[in-house]
Amino acid sequence: MQIFIDSANLDEIEKWMEMGIADGVTTNPSIMLKDGVHDIEKGAKAIARLIHPLPLSVEVTTDDLDGMLNQARQLARWADNIVIKVPQTTSQGLPCFGIMHKLDGEGIKVNATVALSIGQVFIAAKAGATYISIFAGRITDEGGDASEIIGNAVGWLERWEYKSKIIVGSIRSVGDVIQAALAGAHIITIPPQFISKMVDHRNTRATVVQFLNDAQTAEAGMQKGKK
Ligand code: E4P
Repeated sequence: MQIFIDSANLDEIEKWMEMGIADGVTTNPSIMLKDGVHDIEKGAKAIARLIHPLPLSVEVTTDDLDGMLNQARQLARWADNIVIKVPQTTSQGLPCFGIMHKLDGEGIKVNATVALSIGQVFIAAKAGATYISIFAGRITDEGGDASEIIGNAVGWLERWEYKSKIIVGSIRSVGDVIQAALAGAHIITIPPQFISKMVDHRNTRATVVQFLNDAQTAEAGMQKGKK
């Protein structure tokens, strides 16, 4: 299983990259805005440079199909590790799978994003998406069973040997990460604050304190014995 960082914050991305935790980065317009990146081109190029050759997902920001295709081609020219996030449909429900298929045919990697159902996963895989992003939190918000969809999607893709990998996004807690991992997600994209929560534990800290204290006591005893 791979871990992507769901962030546009360079410091956070660098921090987890240096620890060998990150296999890629995902962004979307809301994440860029939240992390203070208003110039998407400048921000995306900086992240792409930092993590190269690992993949960076950058999302199209147009809602009409022709504009989307042109913009996707333009975004892909910013760096050779940029993957283009294309939503399943436009805001009006028009399918975007033709865009995905054309980009795939041109050798541009696609992250078919905002997947909320197993049916969307089937169609995005057929269209040639390299990644399909299942939004676990938004499925659960509506009372859906994200784990069931993730498990079924991964099983189906592997049974029919599609190249598409499932990225689980829309993570709202450490519990969401654990559930997605156990459901078989190929990749989970995690906001940095939840990675921090995953690695910290008060009993780990307490145990480290105990070991440090005992080491000091032993050292003091040794020094006393030498006298
Ligand atoms: C990741 O690729 C998604 O863009 C992100 O996780 C969406 O999360 P949200 O549902 O909290 O907006």
